[in-house]
Amino acid sequence: MAAPAAPAAPDPDGVLVTSRPLDEYCGLFGLTRAALAAVPGPVLDCPAGAAGLAAEARALGCHVIATDPAYALPVPEVAARALAARASMAAAMAARPALYPLPQHRPYDRYLRSWDRARRLFTADTERHPEQYVAAALPRLPFADGTFALTLSGYLVFAYPELFDLDRQVAALAELVRVTRPDGEVRVHPLHDGAGRRCPHLDGLRHALGERRIASEVEVFARVEDGRSRRVLVLRAADHRRRTAGSR
Ligand SMILES: C[S@@+](CC[C@H](N)C(=O)[O-])C[C@H]1O[C@@H](n2cnc3c(N)ncnc32)[C@H](O)[C@@H]1O
Repeated sequence: MAAPAAPAAPDPDGVLVTSRPLDEYCGLFGLTRAALAAVPGPVLDCPAGAAGLAAEARALGCHVIATDPAYALPVPEVAARALAARASMAAAMAARPALYPLPQHRPYDRYLRSWDRARRLFTADTERHPEQYVAAALPRLPFADGTFALTLSGYLVFAYPELFDLDRQVAALAELVRVTRPDGEVRVHPLHDGAGRRCPHLDGLRHALGERRIASEVEVFARVEDGRSRRVLVLRAADHRRRTAGSR
């Protein structure tokens, strides 16, 4: 189900700490469990919120580092914020059903129960594997260049334009590319805000990224839920793409 960030938020900066499960991540980013299992190195989830991705991906043999500024808080506080985000999402779904497609095929309560499971997984996993949950905020991440084979960034950079203007978007996306291997990629979704409005300056943003030698493309694929299109911004180091193309 497409799940634009909901409007009301209990957090000081107005950003919801959501708790999506692995299968929803796959749907959002155009991935499959098999594709995640085949990623040839660590995966970064930034921001991860209270997602179940790191915990669930372990069973696939996929090592995920989750990062989020909320991890500076005690785990029960993060879980409480995730519970509040769930309530905000439930209210948003009831108030603005047009933003959330086909509830008759996948009832909202069933969808939100998948968030509950993910939140519980996250809470248990952060206790058992705290080294996989790193407190950090874009646009500066505490990782060396080229650490990750795949980086996923959901529901932040375009979802909250009040926090990320064009310059900050460019800085944040460039930082995600920096920590990703030259032969890896960064996948960003959604490209719209919480009201479903597309980023109005996407072409200018991609041009600014190009000036930083970052290649970008917008992948469009059909959502399994309803066949409507979903857009993912895919970023790679431009030099690598040129070298790869030249060697063919
Ligand atoms: C809507 S959640 C998205 C979480 C997850 N990617 C998902 O799709 O469910 C947004 C998250 O961004 C985090 N956040 C807020 N400001 C941030 C920043 N400057 N850098 C990284 N994460 C940030 C919040 O703490 C929150 O957990």
